Amino acid sequence: MLTHTGGADRQCRHPGASLARVAQPRHPGKRRDPSFSYTSLRRGLGYISILVMSTCLAPCTAFAADGRPDSPHLGRPASAADIAAWDLSIYPDGTGLPEGKGTAAQGKELFAQRCAACHGKEGVGGTADELAGGTSPLDSDHPDKNIGTYWPYATTLFDFIRRAMPMDTPESLSDGDVYALTAYLLNRNNIIGEGDEMNARTLPRVRMPNRDGFIWIDAKGQPPPDSAP
Ligand code: HEC
Repeated sequence: MLTHTGGADRQCRHPGASLARVAQPRHPGKRRDPSFSYTSLRRGLGYISILVMSTCLAPCTAFAADGRPDSPHLGRPASAADIAAWDLSIYPDGTGLPEGKGTAAQGKELFAQRCAACHGKEGVGGTADELAGGTSPLDSDHPDKNIGTYWPYATTLFDFIRRAMPMDTPESLSDGDVYALTAYLLNRNNIIGEGDEMNARTLPRVRMPNRDGFIWIDAKGQPPPDSAP
């Protein structure tokens, strides 16, 4: 990851820049020279910018001692902390799940405060996606593609809520809150009980109703990442 920290000192100064100014009509509001045409002006500016780019880029491309191109000296190398902040992915088997725990009973209040405005009371009837209550099967004319009817892995729910929700303030929830909200939504979809604790060990063991509804295609012939024990 690169962060911009300046670099104006590395800019090339080139006479082409002043040439570009000369090519502009000197008094745009007044009568023009009849030989002036926008087509030739555009063409001329095109040639000038190619000239500027080629002569500017050439000296700017330096090579390190090992023969590889040097960086343009923008930003700084990503630190371990920078990478950790982006390293949020949770895999179907639960790899990457953090410490923490929560139950549906704890998630209920949190959902009302942080989620219901968009997703509706108890995850149904809001303006954003329906999170529970899907009844039309996937092979019907108007299938309900929501958590209970569609998602193959429970761990994805943790991943998605932690990185993307609430949509107006993503990454503002603690890991315990995310476990509680995950438990709440699983409970609302009748997949776990109200008192079942979700944590890094129990969540990957939750078997989703549509777990076998996907065709696994892997060019290397690997078996599917089965989250079930
Ligand atoms: C400001 C509105 C807003 C709030 C608040 C909000 N969401 Fe969402 N949520 C959305 C929208 C919009 C989408 C659809 C995003 C997309 O498709 O990329 C979504 C999608 C989701 C999904 C994926 C649904 C699916 O089937 O694809 C989940 C799960 C979810 N939200 C959970 C939550 C939880 C839990 C909270 C509370 C912590 C929350 N959301 C708060 C707007 C919101």
